[in-house]
Amino acid sequence: MQKTLTPDWISVGLLSERTGVAVSALHFYERKGLIKSQRNNANHRQYPKHVIRIVSLIQVAQRTGFSLEEILLELDELPNHTRITLEDWEALGLRWQAELDRKIVQLTELKNMMSDCIGCGCLSLERCKLLNPYDELGEIGAGPRLMTE
Ligand code: FES
Repeated sequence: MQKTLTPDWISVGLLSERTGVAVSALHFYERKGLIKSQRNNANHRQYPKHVIRIVSLIQVAQRTGFSLEEILLELDELPNHTRITLEDWEALGLRWQAELDRKIVQLTELKNMMSDCIGCGCLSLERCKLLNPYDELGEIGAGPRLMTE
């Protein structure tokens, strides 16, 4: 049976071909709410063409370390919820760049903490900053610090 596709709609196979994303992954994105399809007369999924840009954006976001949940939150913030404009992309890019800067600082701190652990192996809650990185109370001494009389 021939698919009924208008020029504004594409099949999942063509979406896969155009984006390089496997059909199974596209179905997964749809189950997660990242993209939406509708059924044509032959009951086949069809996607609006602008979904190509959304799938491409998902790929870029995943490559830069964002989770699908984070990406979904970003997509929900887009003004028209469907098409990604140049302005949307610029705003997203700036936010993601700032988030990447934050992650770089965090990873650099972890890397520096790891330097103390190399050759140690104690895995001690009291000494190891990788195991217990935010032990602020431990820095003021041993014993209970939050108990009141
Ligand atoms: S393993 Fe000893 S300080 Fe981390």
